[in-house]
Amino acid sequence: MRDYVKNYERKTIKSKRLYSRAAKVFPGGISHNIRYFEPYPFFVNSAKGKALHDVDGNQYTDYWMGHWALILGHSPRSVVNALAAQIQNGTLYGTVNDVSVELAETIQNLMPRAEMMRFSTTGSEATMYAVRLARARTGKRVIAKALGGWHGFNTTLMQTVNYPFEAEEGPGLVQDEGQYVESLPFNNLEASLKVLETIKDDLACIIIEPVLGGAGCIPPTEGYLKGLQEFANKNGSLLILDEIVTGFRLSLHGAASVFRIEPDLFTLGKICGGGMPIGIVCGKKEIMSLADPVSIRDKEARCAIGGGTFSANPVTMTAGLATLNFLKKNKGVYAEIDNLGCMARKGLSKIFAEIKIPCQVTGLGSIFLTHFGKEVVQDANDVATSDKGLLARYHLALMADHGIFFLPTKMGAFSFAHNVNDVRRLLEATEKIVQSGILKQSS
Ligand SMILES: Cc1ncc(COP(=O)(O)O)c(C=O)c1O
Repeated sequence: MRDYVKNYERKTIKSKRLYSRAAKVFPGGISHNIRYFEPYPFFVNSAKGKALHDVDGNQYTDYWMGHWALILGHSPRSVVNALAAQIQNGTLYGTVNDVSVELAETIQNLMPRAEMMRFSTTGSEATMYAVRLARARTGKRVIAKALGGWHGFNTTLMQTVNYPFEAEEGPGLVQDEGQYVESLPFNNLEASLKVLETIKDDLACIIIEPVLGGAGCIPPTEGYLKGLQEFANKNGSLLILDEIVTGFRLSLHGAASVFRIEPDLFTLGKICGGGMPIGIVCGKKEIMSLADPVSIRDKEARCAIGGGTFSANPVTMTAGLATLNFLKKNKGVYAEIDNLGCMARKGLSKIFAEIKIPCQVTGLGSIFLTHFGKEVVQDANDVATSDKGLLARYHLALMADHGIFFLPTKMGAFSFAHNVNDVRRLLEATEKIVQSGILKQSS
């Protein structure tokens, strides 16, 4: 067994025991598929700032940052203080509440395209409601999404997510759903438009992440998103931008403002929940109003979208508001974390280039991911056919020997709790791993 795997096992003895208990109560030992990695994941019992602490007493500098949701780091003081006060006043009213209006108005001020919105508890719900609204608005059925695009585990959009993308996503999902979803090759406008032409008569919407996140941290090429928008507008279909990762990550005003895109609807989640569960579908008033239960009394005319028990709960609303208020007051956050991202991308690319490991480090702003064995990475196929085994090994070696945590093979994100010394440590650790030769051994 290689040393770094042995090191990992040596320092995570309690986690190993916990994993064997977890495997008896959870399928695969986890409650979200991506949280498993070989040989077994470490179990966390506290987190603060940029650090995760596991049950064996190890500390890791965290680049996973709660599925990229924690832009201010773990338990930032402004959010903790606001939550402490809120919890004394109740956690779940199950009624309308004032802080939800405040959060919605704050989002609307920052992103005026959110003329109206609906809060849910997860991003998976928000995207499901977005495409339902699009179908209601257009009277059409087909949804176009990117090959490899990830919009959560809802049944409608759980299509062409995992490689090989053409294959079914597995038993339990009926084929009927898939027949109304078409996939577009991300960043290939010509080929995407060809696919769209074939479905245009029944095309309700195009839903797209402005930067492919789960599929591998891939920014859009010049003109790609604009081209999709133009097609949707001309065709009377809707453009839905899934900003669950990029919203408040790339800028206070979202990727739509960075790339000058004007979606009809967009979805938010992660950061705007301040570390608590959230999803939001927002957009044009005339479309969102289709779900208005007050003015549309006739059930057949109204688009049925949630909420649920926990939607707009005061704890999430408070954490989200504290986070956005912090970001509004501290506009330098983005320049700082984007600079860290830029340093990491440049530094890693240089290290791997020097020892002639072919790779690309993709990303923008504060997010980044290394892809081994590739000269060009523009879509989910390029990522899926890169050397993921090598990437998993690199990430596990960072964890085992250097106390640095990336969820293996997933993109990393900087938070305001990180600083330039963290980038230096990441680069030093990477150099040591390269020198140890483990990236040269076969997977
Ligand atoms: C772009 C995108 N959309 C939707 C989702 C689903 O959000 P949630 O995990 O909150 O259901 C995710 C989650 O990672 C995501 O990255």
